[in-house]
Amino acid sequence: MTNIITIKKPTDCHIHLRDDAYLKRTVADAAAQFNTIVVMPNLTPPIAAIEDALSYRQRILNAVPATDKLNPLLNLYLHKGTTATLVKDVANTPYILGFKLYPRGATTNSDAGIDDISQFYNIFAAMEKHNVPLMIHAEDNSPTTDIFDRECFFIDKHITKLHKAFPELKITLEHITTKEAVEFINESPANLAATITAHHLWINRNDVINTKIKPHNFCLPIAKRKEHQQALIDAATSGNSKFFLGTDSAPHTQEDKETACGCAGIYTAKNAIELYAEIFDNKGALSQLEGFASINGPHFYNFSPANDTIEITKRQQKIEDKLEFGASIVVPFKSNEQINWSLAS
Ligand code: NCD
Ligand code: ZN
Repeated sequence: MTNIITIKKPTDCHIHLRDDAYLKRTVADAAAQFNTIVVMPNLTPPIAAIEDALSYRQRILNAVPATDKLNPLLNLYLHKGTTATLVKDVANTPYILGFKLYPRGATTNSDAGIDDISQFYNIFAAMEKHNVPLMIHAEDNSPTTDIFDRECFFIDKHITKLHKAFPELKITLEHITTKEAVEFINESPANLAATITAHHLWINRNDVINTKIKPHNFCLPIAKRKEHQQALIDAATSGNSKFFLGTDSAPHTQEDKETACGCAGIYTAKNAIELYAEIFDNKGALSQLEGFASINGPHFYNFSPANDTIEITKRQQKIEDKLEFGASIVVPFKSNEQINWSLAS
């Protein structure tokens, strides 16, 4: 039985840090766990220009604790002002990885997202030409689409067509939640990949709504049936390099979650690798953890995995009840619960 593993320091290919006072905590938590992070641009206003991304990156770097180091890579928010010239400039700018596509209104801070994918074909053509990846929040949020069908509908309606039109375009389906998405990625060529969160490996929809409602397990895409959770576990632990770590960790305050109209998002950044390790251990697949967490993402995006390593040990820890975010409180995923793995400091 393995009680301690050493892996290259992981890369989080999908994280929300927010800005200003939030950075102190989100960045410190991320830097303790990750070598490189891919930071999502859904701030208000969105990060949509190169200068804004680079100054955001500097604010992130300023928040890295002196004892740590971190390599933040940024995504730009795809919106109606995005031009083919900007795509070309992104291809030539270090630290900016690609573009994030949010369907308008699909999730937190997506008001500036896009309504009609077909109007962006000139942008996708430029992305394909300059080898700039497209990260997609793949949910069809038209009012008639059931919340549990949103991911499958989006893949059926848009991704297949997009991939056919731009066969070389690098596409990442972010935070996948369904067995259909897993199958789609498995059957696609190497330029299509997917991130998988820790929380979607841990929970299914019964953990969100049951005889009680659990707002801290509510995120988008919403967790699906257990059979989908199982498909995600199988994919993450399979050793297939098209699946990699993206926590989608997103801080929302306790009062914004515990309310009549609570918002979507789960904070896992503080304990992410331990949460993944336990799932891999339960599956007898700890040997696949390093590939999933530290190698597959960097390889897909053509940057180097970490040289540094971390140790994760099979030692129980209790997840903190609440995390202080300046004057606010964030309730982390599995708050107050025991998990079986810990990050060795
Ligand atoms: C994310 C957030 O809060 O920024 N929320 C979430 O439920 N996942 C946005 C996102 O990735 O959808
Ligand atoms: Zn996200």
